[in-house]
Amino acid sequence: VIDLQAVRAEIPALSSATYLNTGGYAPSPRRVYEAAFEAHRFEMEHGPDTRGIRSSVEARAEQTRGKLAELFGVTEAEIAFTRAVSEGIDIVAWGLDWQPGDEVVVSDQEHPTGRLPWLNLRERRGIDVKVVPLDRNGDGVLEALDAAITPRTRLLSLSHVTAESGLRLPAAEICQLAHKRDVRVLLDAAQAVGQFPIDLRALDVDFYATTGHKWLLGGAGIGALYVKGELLDEVKVSWTGAGAVEGASGRSDVPRWHAGAKRFEFGSRLWPAYVGYGVAVDWIREVGLEAIEARVSPLASSLKKELAGIDGVTVLSPDAPERSTGIVTFAIDGMPGDQVATALWERARTVCRAARAFGQVGTRISVAFFTSEDELSRLVDEVRKLARERVSLPV
Ligand SMILES: Cc1ncc(COP(=O)(O)O)c(C=O)c1O
Repeated sequence: VIDLQAVRAEIPALSSATYLNTGGYAPSPRRVYEAAFEAHRFEMEHGPDTRGIRSSVEARAEQTRGKLAELFGVTEAEIAFTRAVSEGIDIVAWGLDWQPGDEVVVSDQEHPTGRLPWLNLRERRGIDVKVVPLDRNGDGVLEALDAAITPRTRLLSLSHVTAESGLRLPAAEICQLAHKRDVRVLLDAAQAVGQFPIDLRALDVDFYATTGHKWLLGGAGIGALYVKGELLDEVKVSWTGAGAVEGASGRSDVPRWHAGAKRFEFGSRLWPAYVGYGVAVDWIREVGLEAIEARVSPLASSLKKELAGIDGVTVLSPDAPERSTGIVTFAIDGMPGDQVATALWERARTVCRAARAFGQVGTRISVAFFTSEDELSRLVDEVRKLARERVSLPV
């Protein structure tokens, strides 16, 4: 079980606001910031490229690759550092060899980052993008995806957990059905990593793109892309530069790409941020992903029940437990979600944001393992007041 007081004491931002926006930008624990500050300070005091300094910060950042590999149950050679989910998806999008008329299937609940790379390839390479609608619990998603696949389909690109309503897709089953049809699967894992245990071998997913700044509490500007080992050569290198090749072969006319996914990395990086990323992975594993899921799941489920019980409030997030996560999105009749989010901030210093799902603009609450029962019951009280005021307004 999670020691709520102890974990909350680690996250300074929780003392000045009710922070229910981990699905947007998560607050980080002190130790993540301190590790990144400390690496920066070390560079500040010694000079970033003084003999031994840069290599020692980079070596610590490099350890994060191993930590991510362990987190996902894969090898280090299958992990590329990225700067965001978008970069990971773009690496795969531009790395595959598209022919005009090739198809990518996405859902209608993708974040812009999960759509734009494919719409761009539609413009640039003449691919087709098919959109499969999802309902609240993702019912029938396997059948719908299966029906959308044609002989021209090359890839399914879907959110493991959707951004707006927090629907957790049956990822292993999706990969299984796609592979039967010789179709690859990319999962946008922005909202998944840090919410529950993830075993990429068991999922058998082909590409998995994630970021540090959400449920892992690791900060922004850092992310990772998993490419299944046997597909490393299928994804060609599109952007390159120092860091992508073995040894000094970058100076020769025949570069030798790194044997592993490091071949997709390019350019200088903010290494201190990757040091912090590793500390975030360590902390989340120390708190425990099973424990995180076991704490959040009943909290989110009772929040949904309480919100649904308020007159004029509709819950847009799934109610099926196996499809649910810490994301709870609701709408108040006649009150746009951004107005609700603003009112919650002004009245109760509660941080959340609007979310668009199933044709409605609702408000998204992120229930994290550090969220307290008191914070959620205050939220329900505020929503009840807002809904009551709304209902009593003259039309
Ligand atoms: C599902 C999903 N994908 C992608 C992103 C964007 O990720 P990034 O900014 O790391 O590219 C987000 C959140 O911002 C998201 O919720």
